[in-house]
Amino acid sequence: MTEPAQFETFGPLVEKIEIKGQNLLSINDLSNSQILDLFELGRRLEPWNRSVINLLPGRVLATLFFQPSTRTRLSFETAMHRLGGAVLTETTPLISSSAAKEESLDDMLRVVSKYANVIVLRHFDDVEARRAVASSEAPVISGGFGQWEHPTQALLDLYTLWRIYGRVEGLRVCIASTDLNHARTGHSMAYGLARLGAKVTLASPMATRTPDEVLAKIGSLGASVDEEFDLEQDSFNDLIYDMDLVYLPGCSAPKGPEAEAFKLTMEKYLVRHETLQRAEKEGRTIYVTHTLPRRQGEMDLAIDSMPSELYFKAIAFSVSIRMALLVGIAGLEDAPQTSLVNPGV
Ligand code: CP
Repeated sequence: MTEPAQFETFGPLVEKIEIKGQNLLSINDLSNSQILDLFELGRRLEPWNRSVINLLPGRVLATLFFQPSTRTRLSFETAMHRLGGAVLTETTPLISSSAAKEESLDDMLRVVSKYANVIVLRHFDDVEARRAVASSEAPVISGGFGQWEHPTQALLDLYTLWRIYGRVEGLRVCIASTDLNHARTGHSMAYGLARLGAKVTLASPMATRTPDEVLAKIGSLGASVDEEFDLEQDSFNDLIYDMDLVYLPGCSAPKGPEAEAFKLTMEKYLVRHETLQRAEKEGRTIYVTHTLPRRQGEMDLAIDSMPSELYFKAIAFSVSIRMALLVGIAGLEDAPQTSLVNPGV
């Protein structure tokens, strides 16, 4: 049972968000005001992101990860523990669950949703995952679906930006990658930034630009982004010099004969620490974040110890915003009885 004082403190904001029982498969499943209310709830929960606040006692989170993960799975699990809930985890479902015996994802979700109050699912096939979610009796949060979207990574990166600047609107952000076509985090972040009023530039090779479907959706949501193609390292660093944030969603590197060409393209999108230092001398910070994991050669590691570094600072924020999301979706229990009188007397 949620304690009365905590219910009074958090109940009105949790109810205002109005996401109880809802799935979160795309960042576009949240309205702008829901995102901003989640930020406010996340900020209020930050004092407990290294301890415990019993807002979800007795609730169970199941994490079903069909692809490897460090951050997404462990931060959701940390968030649930910090909220006083319990966690079931399946990290290798194709080996250790009945998915290995060809049980369908539909049946797995139907069954697990009878154990858990909330499910976080990461899956390699976004079409299958989006369809199968309908079989779940518990709300499902995407932990990354195929190459489609990774909404909670975007949510935590937007939250980090909001905590640093106090706003997202008007910020200049460059999302850069050798492959924005397959960058699920890049897609979710482009939606979120553009919708919240940031000035977004998407930098990638023309051949691997952001999918038309994502650009069309951004337009249909009344937002816009710019694109820059086929930059060299100098012109890329000139571009980011005017930015408040450089967002690096990373991408899978090809193996075999394409690997060398990919590495050369990757070098063109290298954020040089000299570029960031030049801005520092002018008294401003160009923040750099990477969704991680990062590969060797993908980043200038000198950035790790510069004020621009945001990718490790975001880790602590990720727990708070995922706590907010779990509370919003699981919902607080009804107002606890404050009377000590036995109602049966
Ligand atoms: N950023 C991210 O999704 O990391 P993991 O793959 O470790 O969860």
